[in-house]
Amino acid sequence: EKDGYDHFMQKEIAEQPRAYRDTMLGRIDKETKGVVLPELNMTLEDIHQIQQIQMVACGTAYHAALVGKAVIERMTRIPVEIDVASEYRYRQPVIRENTLVIAVSQSGETADTLAAMREAKLCGARVMAVTNVVGSSVAREADDVLYTMAGPEIAVASTKAYTSQLIALYLFAIYVSQSLNTMDAMTRMELLSTMEKLPEQVEGMLEDTRTIQRIAGELADRNHLFFIGRGLDYMVAMEASLKLKEISYIHSEAYAAGELKHGSLALIEDGTPVIAIATQEALLEKTISNIKEVKARGAYVIGVALEGNMEMAKTADEVIYIPRTDALLTSTLSVVPLQLLAYYAALARGNDVDKPRNLAKSVTVE
Ligand code: M6R
Repeated sequence: EKDGYDHFMQKEIAEQPRAYRDTMLGRIDKETKGVVLPELNMTLEDIHQIQQIQMVACGTAYHAALVGKAVIERMTRIPVEIDVASEYRYRQPVIRENTLVIAVSQSGETADTLAAMREAKLCGARVMAVTNVVGSSVAREADDVLYTMAGPEIAVASTKAYTSQLIALYLFAIYVSQSLNTMDAMTRMELLSTMEKLPEQVEGMLEDTRTIQRIAGELADRNHLFFIGRGLDYMVAMEASLKLKEISYIHSEAYAAGELKHGSLALIEDGTPVIAIATQEALLEKTISNIKEVKARGAYVIGVALEGNMEMAKTADEVIYIPRTDALLTSTLSVVPLQLLAYYAALARGNDVDKPRNLAKSVTVE
């Protein structure tokens, strides 16, 4: 059932191009070049009534939701709050009738996420689920369901479910923006055709993983490292850090690149690895100066940058290049080499990649 792969995680990373395609399938109208989501019960009027959105999720799904929040706000101008599901109820969130709550959960059975969405429903919110499992509790209890089409995910470490959640949330953001007219048609069409190229670009990245394997080998005997990034890159940094911790057991932390100097820079010593994600060209100059800050303290810097980024080549010790795409979409590409990095680092340490210690695939306790 691993189809010739050594591990489910490796197979699921490789399945991402298909998962992207399947999640987009039938949802991009060829003629109008718009998003169609007939599975939602939401009417145009319902969409116009949304005053705020709250997102709840755990772990990797939370990291996907962070990207979702950023793109929904940018495209629709609807304010989006986000909570780790286990915290949502206890902060007594302000939920109104025109609040849309989006619960993101691969399994649809995560107890914390279910509890958060039940609380939201009790307070009168409309709840939409983004889930991978048809008929799951989250899907059954939500008013609307947007399915990710990742196919079954077996490895505890989530990979294709995360990237499919990103795709689904991008589609939803575009859908709402086209309903509210907050994005001009030309921009939308370009964005959608750029999205349609993503699966092929991921295929390209998966063809040759030697650089990543070599870097993973170098990191395998380290005890701690940092990920830094700005904007969407910071959100991917959080996901990459979780993936590395979860299966390689190497301690890592993700920081907004500009935040490091407010305390944690003190932890950088000679040789401390820092993985700097810098795909947001508008923020590049600032991130490069953050990289220089850590380099000056002796850090060993691995950059993740867009193909052709010469600045990064001059500044970092190693660079992992990803193909060029729209600035809003880079998260769907930059995470892939970092999933592989976690995978190969875990392998090099002799860990059980698919079943990391202390963890379960579906967390059904609060
Ligand atoms: O099934 P869910 O998406 O609700 O699961 C949420 C988290 O438990 C899950 O993403 C977890 O963080 C993964 N093991 C991370 O790889």
